[in-house]
Amino acid sequence: MESKDILNKVNENQAVQYELTKLKQSLDVMKDILDHEYQGMVLVDADGRIVKFNYEKLLGIKEKDVIGKHVDEVIDNTRLHIVIKTGKKEVNDVQKIQGKDMIATRIPIIKDGKILGAIGSVTFKDVRELKSLVHRIETYQKSVDKYKGEIRMMHEANYSFDHIISQNKRMEHLKEVAKIAAESNSTVLIQGESGTGKEYFAHGIHKASYRRYGSFVRINCAAIPKELLEAELFGYEEGAFTGARKEGKLGKLEIANGGTVLLDEIGTMPLEMQAKLLRVLEEREFERIGGTERIGLDIRVIASTNEELEEAIVKGKFRKDLYYRLNVIRLNIPPLRDRRDDIPLLSKHMIDDLSNKIGIESKEIACETMDIFQNYNWPGNVRELRNIIESALHLVKGNIICPENLPDYLIQNAKVGQKSAEEGLLLKDIVARAEIKAIREALEKTNGNRTEAAKRLGIHRTALYKKIEAYGLDISNL
Ligand SMILES: Nc1ncnc2c1ncn2[C@@H]1O[C@H](COP(=O)(O)OP(=O)(O)OP(=O)(O)O)[C@@H](O)[C@H]1O
Ligand SMILES: [Mg+2]
Repeated sequence: MESKDILNKVNENQAVQYELTKLKQSLDVMKDILDHEYQGMVLVDADGRIVKFNYEKLLGIKEKDVIGKHVDEVIDNTRLHIVIKTGKKEVNDVQKIQGKDMIATRIPIIKDGKILGAIGSVTFKDVRELKSLVHRIETYQKSVDKYKGEIRMMHEANYSFDHIISQNKRMEHLKEVAKIAAESNSTVLIQGESGTGKEYFAHGIHKASYRRYGSFVRINCAAIPKELLEAELFGYEEGAFTGARKEGKLGKLEIANGGTVLLDEIGTMPLEMQAKLLRVLEEREFERIGGTERIGLDIRVIASTNEELEEAIVKGKFRKDLYYRLNVIRLNIPPLRDRRDDIPLLSKHMIDDLSNKIGIESKEIACETMDIFQNYNWPGNVRELRNIIESALHLVKGNIICPENLPDYLIQNAKVGQKSAEEGLLLKDIVARAEIKAIREALEKTNGNRTEAAKRLGIHRTALYKKIEAYGLDISNL
């Protein structure tokens, strides 16, 4: 996602949060009105004389002026003096007071069979006002529910462990570990190449945990500009800095409170932010930028990375202490090339799923196609497999996906693979050749647009940058 889109999304979310706060305030005001202006109480003794009176707001009569007076002299159409005779309570009786309909309840106070007095209460100045008030409250309530729902939807985990398709032993073991992790509140560190399913695991953990009704908030540390990351995490108060939104902004940590936060691509977090994050995780409290209030934090943290954090520590790019904080339960998701037994199952699953989405009949896979899949290196892992299947489903004519429905680079790779094996090349060289070829082709097809090229390859943009750098590719002529 472009940072512009992220900002839009963030602003949209802020607007909803702001709206929700406003609506809540309106509801509180309504409640206040109900409590004070619309309600009056009177207490009379056994003779019907007023002992306590708080109809001041309702009738404009002061308590001190009526204490000791007979209730019949003060309140129109009262029946409290009757209730102290009958000893029978009267509930929700319509009573006209000062020309307006009110709803009155009268309760006798009886002790040891003796009537000591009575309490009368009237609610709502006017029945018509009550109706419109109820209507307004209902409308507000609906809006609050709607916004709550929207916020939840924006911050919801969409996938569960059932969405993680695999028959591979290591993957099954990882799923078991993740399920156990879900039951605890421990921090989880998920490591794996781009497209291996790290985010699926994070969703799965949230959904299987007791926090599943809380928010699931993802922060992509790589996609958010360094300068904005702090505001994004902690939020800020009104006018905290130049350019800040007037009404302030909630941080993702605050939105995630009670739920789970996924710190995606944690390895790219600037060192300075790492220090701040560590402090927050240790103290379980934070402050909004420009704020003084300490906000308690009750979240589960899941961090994910596609680079080896251990290497980043050695290079001085990642704090060791933060690493130890995060690396409590560790999930290392193997790349697809190391679990080739998953390729047929995943292919079948994705063909069924995608053809259903596209609205076509499901297809079979030709053996030759599967051979190519089995020999390919899958730098973009499961995401790449899914992209390739999606494109093949659009190209396939009959009912069987054949090699000609696959992108050129995959077929070329199959040939290279054969030749290289004959030449006695090392696997890593074969892989490198195939990757360089695939990257070049993707960049050519997209006129050098790296975001688009990464998408085609099914890898993250940052992963593509790293590969271009690692292979020393000259792409200036594209
Ligand atoms: N085990 C799986 N079963 C089904 N689909 C999967 C599986 N693993 C990955 N996918 C598919 O691959 C896509 C990428 O997965 P995910 O977003 O979890 O990867 P990731 O490891 O977070 O990648 P990145 O590092 O690029 O963010 C998913 O949208 C999904 O379509
Ligand atoms: Mg991810």
